[in-house]
Amino acid sequence: MAKDTLTITDNRTGKQYEIPIEHGAIRAMDLRQIQVAAADFGLMTYDPAFTNTASCKSRITYIDGDNGILRYRGYPIEELAEKSDYLETAYLIVKGELPNRQHFDMWKRNITLHTMVHENVKKFMDGFRYDAHPMGMLVGTIGALSTFYPDAKNIFDLESRRVQTRRLIGKMPTIAAFAYRHSRGLPYVYPDNDLSYTGNFLSMLFKMTELVYKPNPVLERALDVLFVLHADHEQNCSTNAVRSVGSSQVDPYSAVAAAAAALYGPLHGGANEAVIHMLMEIGSIDNVPAAVKKFKAGEGRLMGFGHRVYKNYDPRAKIIKRIAEEVFEVTGKNPLIDIAVELERIALQDDYFVKRKLYPNVDFYSGIIYQAMGFPMTMFPVLFAIPRTSGWLAQWAEMVRDSEQKIARPRQLYVGEEIRHWAPVAQRPEPASREDAVTEQI
Ligand code: CMC
Repeated sequence: MAKDTLTITDNRTGKQYEIPIEHGAIRAMDLRQIQVAAADFGLMTYDPAFTNTASCKSRITYIDGDNGILRYRGYPIEELAEKSDYLETAYLIVKGELPNRQHFDMWKRNITLHTMVHENVKKFMDGFRYDAHPMGMLVGTIGALSTFYPDAKNIFDLESRRVQTRRLIGKMPTIAAFAYRHSRGLPYVYPDNDLSYTGNFLSMLFKMTELVYKPNPVLERALDVLFVLHADHEQNCSTNAVRSVGSSQVDPYSAVAAAAAALYGPLHGGANEAVIHMLMEIGSIDNVPAAVKKFKAGEGRLMGFGHRVYKNYDPRAKIIKRIAEEVFEVTGKNPLIDIAVELERIALQDDYFVKRKLYPNVDFYSGIIYQAMGFPMTMFPVLFAIPRTSGWLAQWAEMVRDSEQKIARPRQLYVGEEIRHWAPVAQRPEPASREDAVTEQI
């Protein structure tokens, strides 16, 4: 029978090593025994951006990128998007199983109890400039929460982890909505706990003078499904951030703030905004063939297409495309959708995109929906951060409980100067050459 091992021959020494394979991987530390001399450090792997390195074992999210499959705790994303809702999905992601009726009611009650924020959080948010980006406000305020809940530092205490999880999932929509209202110069709207998770969020965003805000049920459900689709996505940039920062045993507010900061970047939470800019620039269906030609020639990228993991249609994009139709029934059609559909049609028939397995990803249609619902583009990453909080917290707790995890501390390949000795200023190289060297560092 074939053995689950890998035999490596080191051509420098002629020695052979047999290394176990587990879950389709070898342990990087097993390579350390491969040395030329006893004093050697041993062999390392070099993997910038972790493109082929598993940093953890996880039971939360499964992705098969070649076949366009995404599952949370084993449940297909399509089933959850159709039959579940965000709070139930968050329970599933955080706790590992779907809740029974009693546990679900308790969970909803517990999250709802935590939608309020301390009045000083409100004052803290007031301190931001009138035109502050809502995502910058969100990142800063999540970090500030750690000062309100010093008990959060007890990360090995299960009850403490549970309370912080409820608090964060409960407060994210409130902080997000306050950030939006601040950027609009509008008074904050306090949570209405008679509404659903997304209904209350819409109320805190859009309530004006009416006594009770009644969310449109189609938009409330559409946003809820978008939240389900964004709840987790295994080891992406922000999840890696929450695990890496959390591995220092810092409190979860600080770790989640780091994750949100990672999500702020245009390559992660900002791609749907780039899609909107691209569609606006293309301007009409007639210009689509010329635009595709430009992308193929390497002049810019077709934003919302391609994915590091999916080499097939992103299953989330399919669902989002369907939701767009439902949303437009209420909001009126966002004219950008016609350009997007035509772009997709042409790209999916084009050899360039077919050969490279470039398909629409989650961001291709989500921005168009958010825009139709009245969200400014600066809110797009904020809308991503709210549901991803459950994923971040589940991944963080999994890391805290994992006895194989330690403080994250990658190695490097040092390629800098050999030892040099300090010299007085007058004896250092001429400014021109020094400047060259210094410029390279910035
Ligand atoms: N348009 C045109 N060509 C593309 C595109 C695109 N969107 N994406 C990849 N390519 C080409 C690329 O030029 C390269 O071609 P060649 O082999 O001839 O050099 C080939 O496809 C492979 O690309 P890559 O950059 O090596 O692939 P990657 O896995 O490093 O990048 C990506 C993945 C998502 C960064 C990239 O596809 C991209 O920039 N897409 C547009 C931005 C975007 O939509 N980002 C959102 C991603 S989903 C977010 C999430 O899940 O959180």
